[in-house]
Amino acid sequence: MPSIVFIQANGRQDVLDVPVGTTLMHAVVAAGLDGIVGECGGSAMCATCHVYVGQD
Ligand code: FES
Repeated sequence: MPSIVFIQANGRQDVLDVPVGTTLMHAVVAAGLDGIVGECGGSAMCATCHVYVGQD
């Protein structure tokens, strides 16, 4: 199971073990982390998921 490091704008880091096939939005919402609301359920219409993916 992949471990994903979520880095907030304030530098806080949270590491989640995310099953393969799970979206980042669903993983964050299920874990109750701040920063991603997921209002449209992942349809890419509300822009409440706004992430930057690092090169690594
Ligand atoms: S839930 Fe991701 S853009 Fe709406």
